[in-house]
Amino acid sequence: MVTASTHTSRREAFGSRNVFILSAIGSAVGLGNIWRFPYVAYEGGGGAFLIPYLCALLTAGIPLLFFDYAIGHRFRGSAPLAFRRMHRRAEVLGWWQVLICVVIAVYYAVIIAWAAMYTWFSAQLTWGPGNENDFFFSDFLRSADVAKVGVSTEFVPQVGIPLVVVWLVVVVIMALGVKRGIGRANMILMPLLTVMFAILVVQSLFLPGALDGLNAFFTPDWAALADPAVWASAYGHIFFSLSVAFGIMVTYSSYLKRKTDLTGSGLVVAFANSGFEILAGIGVFAALGFMAQAQGTEVSGVASSGIGLAFIAFPTIVSQATGGSIIGVLFFGALVFAGVTSLISILEVIVAALQDKLGWGRIRTTLIVSVPLAVISMALFSTTTALSVLDTADAFVNAFGIMAVALVAVIVVAWVLHRLPALKDHLNRRSSFTVGRFWMLLIGVLAPLVLGYLFVSELVSKISSPYGDYPGWFVGVFGWGMVIALVLIAALLALLPWGARSHAKADPDYDEFLAAEHYDPDAETAAVTAPTAERGAGA
Ligand code: ALA
Repeated sequence: MVTASTHTSRREAFGSRNVFILSAIGSAVGLGNIWRFPYVAYEGGGGAFLIPYLCALLTAGIPLLFFDYAIGHRFRGSAPLAFRRMHRRAEVLGWWQVLICVVIAVYYAVIIAWAAMYTWFSAQLTWGPGNENDFFFSDFLRSADVAKVGVSTEFVPQVGIPLVVVWLVVVVIMALGVKRGIGRANMILMPLLTVMFAILVVQSLFLPGALDGLNAFFTPDWAALADPAVWASAYGHIFFSLSVAFGIMVTYSSYLKRKTDLTGSGLVVAFANSGFEILAGIGVFAALGFMAQAQGTEVSGVASSGIGLAFIAFPTIVSQATGGSIIGVLFFGALVFAGVTSLISILEVIVAALQDKLGWGRIRTTLIVSVPLAVISMALFSTTTALSVLDTADAFVNAFGIMAVALVAVIVVAWVLHRLPALKDHLNRRSSFTVGRFWMLLIGVLAPLVLGYLFVSELVSKISSPYGDYPGWFVGVFGWGMVIALVLIAALLALLPWGARSHAKADPDYDEFLAAEHYDPDAETAAVTAPTAERGAGA
């Protein structure tokens, strides 16, 4: 039975496929590409790392990207609604992904705020020569030891104020909606980011010592290929980098028009993301080559990842290079733009989920999501213990959030609900690149094996040696406690009834979609609930 309700708002949509592609690239290209990939590649065998990296991209990254697109586009909903439409009890998977995004959003915004301040500091070399390390930890973050002070509430204004600005900017973009907000922001920021990054890379290549950096980055260490940890890091990296398995691509593809080449778009997104990542590796290592030469040391002595690379190594390069301020402004500006386009995609997972569940309007939902998140973000991350909380939350949410939900999702969809053949057919309806049994094998067999291996090895390593130098209670709360709470809260959210105006109750767009695609509405969610009662009578 197809029912249409007049009081339910129509689902938003991207203006065109190109805007979707640009927004999906905007989501994928983020902090992970710029500060994580170069070091992961360098540590994993340099040039030889391209082999596990390409394997991970082709056998897990792209297949899972297609998997997310297929779910989002076929079931046309935020993560909880899309999974619920697949099977009522699968809704919890969607909420789990939403909560992972909640955790990532609150700390991701902080790193953008730091990068924004460092864009400004670069212009004036605020940290002073030789003082980059102390400046970051002592002067800027005013970092305190959690073992001594516990979780501090001492406000650090130079972090808190830009953090408010970051939240204001993203709230405005989100409130404007998918087409006018997210789509337009990506149309403006992504070309700017590309130009800035290209200039940065070219400028880095002309620094003295750049060639040593490139040699260090590209020289293959073939022995690394025999190390399972290198393969694990390639697979681990690709999920975060491509923004797969935490609801983003499900949500974004639900805003695609009915007649869309899904796999073709996915290939463009995946290769653009990898292209950007490799470009980042070239730029970062050229700059590190310069730093090593200036300090009379080896590249291995200065190479680092994440916060160490961005907020200590790069400021050092900025201090020492001719035209360093320009390098700094371009590098930190690129981090801000790449970060904002990823942050809005992370927030959209949450906003779309609540909009679908409660049937609220865009502005109201954006505010109800963003204001509490901004407050949590301020409370936890503009204090003197921000760095420890951020480090722990990031490590645990990646290992036991994204990996775990991806593992459960592929097993449930492939082996419990047996939906892979239907998703394959949906992908193939009008895609230029068709997928077949091999794709189902990658999702149904290889992905669970790889994800299972990654999950278990992370579990063993985090249980056998305590994480970081933090006290046990701290890792218990912000690490283990947080990841367990995510699953429990997700289960509770899945139990809450859907609002009278929610899209699970009445969704004319979805009804039209089912009719146009000749999908049988009565087969929807068939295994557990009578779909007509669920969707039509508002039960
Ligand atoms: N894919 C985004 C990143 O790499 C989340 O940072």
